[in-house]
Amino acid sequence: MLYNKVVLAAAAATAVNAQRPSDESICDYYTTALLKENTAENQATLLTLVVNTVVIGNYTEPNVGIKVPGILAPGTVDGEDVNLMPYFSGELATTNRGGNQGVKVNFLDGGAAEPLKKNMPADDDSSNQYFLLTHLYQFFGSLLGCSMQGMSGFDAYMADPSMYEVHKFMNLNLAENTYFIQQVGMAAASFGVAEEDVTTVGMALNSLFNVRCAPPATAVKAQGPQLQSICIDEKTCPLADNADCALYSGQGGNSTTTTTTTPTSSAMPTATGGNGDGGAAEPTSVPGGAAVVHGLGLGALVAAVAAFAL
Ligand code: HEM
Ligand SMILES: *[C@@H]1O[C@H](CO)[C@@H](O)[C@H](O)[C@H]1NC(C)=O
Ligand SMILES: *[C@@H]1O[C@H](CO)[C@@H](O)[C@H](O)[C@H]1NC(C)=O
Repeated sequence: MLYNKVVLAAAAATAVNAQRPSDESICDYYTTALLKENTAENQATLLTLVVNTVVIGNYTEPNVGIKVPGILAPGTVDGEDVNLMPYFSGELATTNRGGNQGVKVNFLDGGAAEPLKKNMPADDDSSNQYFLLTHLYQFFGSLLGCSMQGMSGFDAYMADPSMYEVHKFMNLNLAENTYFIQQVGMAAASFGVAEEDVTTVGMALNSLFNVRCAPPATAVKAQGPQLQSICIDEKTCPLADNADCALYSGQGGNSTTTTTTTPTSSAMPTATGGNGDGGAAEPTSVPGGAAVVHGLGLGALVAAVAAFAL
């Protein structure tokens, strides 16, 4: 798993300026650019590097000069203070373990940051931290279209299929979700991922997860359409296109059955405008390999891009 620093260094400089061919996924393209050989192991390593950076901030040397605080560090979004650490440290009873209320779980029980700095998920293979990190590598590998995932060296994501179910007791608001997504974008950018690709990823994450009451959408192909909205807070979370809050009610979360429109936030305008087709949302793929709810129309996607400020 330990990657060769020199290889990464040599490739990082070229990755910045090169253009990804439209028929190659973000995962495949950057695995080759940064780690040379496009193997299942290297795809897993790429996801490890990126996700670990999302979690603890930039730790690899060298990088392209982009500082990533990481999701465990407090930050601000649109002037609002965000602190995600308590959701991971076990301070908050917000983890869904199947009951009708959240429970406290410490997700930093596998050595916390130290193993991540060594490109590992945890210092064991049975901690909450181990499962969270490996599931994140797998889930994001799927979103980014890793072609060799499922082969020996990079397991497919087979954990909870519904991101709503996983996150529902966290009652996350727009700023919290936006902060997480911004860290993903910055982590990718710190490895030399081109701005256009960073934007594609941010857009897909915003439209799939950072909305309220979205109809079922496919994130991992083998798992099919699932409830994916993890922005729950009624005051700040934009309603998804074709929102159906009834699908989210009565499941212990905090969504309501109302579908009244909420004020749009400057951080993430709701997808009005667009191509006006108003058609049912259907899962499809973006060029980067991420499954997104299509039917927003290009105009709306462009608005979302503009909103994905790094
Ligand atoms: C684009 C946004 C996000 C995506 C795609 C995402 C994805 C995921 C995935 C794939 C898992 C693993 C699920 C499993 O093991 O079954 C997970 C777990 C978790 N996420 Fe997120 N997440 C997002 C945003 C957030 C935010 C904003 C927070 C706020 C703190 C958060 C906190 C957590 C926690 C605490 C867990 C562990 C829950 C558990 O194991 O039950 N996530 N997330
Ligand atoms: C993170 O990136 C910034 C900007 O390139 C750099 O100054 C800093 O030293 C990096 N941090 C670590 C721990 O590598
Ligand atoms: C639901 O929202 C109410 C009011 O905002 C809050 O008091 C409660 O803790 C929330 N419940 C969950 C499960 O997030």
